[in-house]
Amino acid sequence: MRILAVIGALAILVGIGAAVFFFGGFYSVAGTAEDPAVVTWALTRVRTASINRHADDQPPASINLNDAASVQAGAKEFAEHGCVNCHGAPGVKWAKYSEGLHPDPPDLKDVVGELSPAQLFFVIKNGINMTGMPSFAQAGAKDDEIWSIVAFLKKLPGVSEADYKTWTAQPSH
Ligand code: HEC
Repeated sequence: MRILAVIGALAILVGIGAAVFFFGGFYSVAGTAEDPAVVTWALTRVRTASINRHADDQPPASINLNDAASVQAGAKEFAEHGCVNCHGAPGVKWAKYSEGLHPDPPDLKDVVGELSPAQLFFVIKNGINMTGMPSFAQAGAKDDEIWSIVAFLKKLPGVSEADYKTWTAQPSH
């Protein structure tokens, strides 16, 4: 019984301590503050597990992700939706401010190999909480446009600077 009382008292003290730390303003929300390794680890694990569980959409029959037309249309959507500002593109550097985001947006050609089309679609459509990655469905992108971006991203590691320039220079549809 005594032990239980001590555990209870400790739990209350920890609760009060946490409340003072967070509500008293001692926790720093500065984007420059490094997260403790355990927080980064937990956030990354939770994010990956969540995306794996939720990403189950497949492209509609009208869209073939390997189709050159989809890939090129996707390059254009990628440029027009402002992805380039944070992630960069072949021959285009990301905007300097993206280096101030926390976490830092990745160079997508380095990560697309590990992500399935369904996972890419989910992330672009819904965004990622607690990162700067916006939901593009909320920003007005249609599912078809997002699927074309997915088609482009799956080919991204092999897209040359010249191709990207040509595809994004075409007049708007
Ligand atoms: C305001 C900056 C910003 C913009 C604009 C932006 N992103 Fe992101 N994006 C991020 C950040 C931040 C992350 C999360 C980085 C992390 O998980 O460490 C991210 C993550 C992603 C990921 C997941 C990468 C991974 O490793 O799991 C994909 C895919 C992605 N973005 C694609 C896009 C596409 C496509 C667009 C445009 C339609 C776009 N992003 C626009 C900031 C941005």
